[in-house]
Amino acid sequence: MPEASVRPLVFAVPKGRILKKLGPLLERAGIDSSALTSDDRRLIREEPGSGIHFLLLKPDDVPTYVEYGAADIGIVGRDVLLEREYDVYSPVDLGIGRCRMVVAGEKGQAYDLSATRPGAPLRVATKFPTIARQHFARRGAQIESIFVQGSVELAPLTGLADVIVDLVETGETLRQNGLVELETICDVSSVVVANRVGLKLEAERLRPLLDAIASATEEVTT
Ligand code: PRP
Repeated sequence: MPEASVRPLVFAVPKGRILKKLGPLLERAGIDSSALTSDDRRLIREEPGSGIHFLLLKPDDVPTYVEYGAADIGIVGRDVLLEREYDVYSPVDLGIGRCRMVVAGEKGQAYDLSATRPGAPLRVATKFPTIARQHFARRGAQIESIFVQGSVELAPLTGLADVIVDLVETGETLRQNGLVELETICDVSSVVVANRVGLKLEAERLRPLLDAIASATEEVTT
């Protein structure tokens, strides 16, 4: 009798700059990631015989696919998990994609980052309104958050906002646009997320995979 075919594991990965760092880490974990290197428009990638299907997603969508079980596991920046609540299991910090969430403003400007006057709140442009609001609320400061999708650094330069809350990696984008970091909110790096139910049902396949990724991560960080 022919063997029942085993369902491939579905692994959601973010498109963008983190993908280059992810490949070598997955290889160290014994996961064939060669399908991720081809430069084409396919959103589902698989290396025949690997037993894994990769989904290439916008970073913000990775935990959504994992939460609803459309993917078994995924890789996502901790910023995404801090900004919105997802019911996912998050067992491993990969230590790659390291950056930080900061408050930044124009060089040479004096800002009152503790402003509490309801009539004149600090205007904060950001793609992370929850993180921004929580950060300023911790010190009782009022803000008006203005949602922008990207090129956030433009906001103080054009008068759209007083300051920004955004991710900084090298600091080059801030520097080249005449902005400076005013405060660090938190450090951010990439983490693995897994579907809670899937982890129980597929424990035999997923646990060793997560352990292998955790070991490969330790090699990077130690
Ligand atoms: C991110 C972030 C900053 C920049 C920081 O933007 O929002 O703009 O990277 O990186 P750096 O400190 O190394 O300069 P991204 O490149 O994702 O583009 P976006 O502006 O469209 O969000």
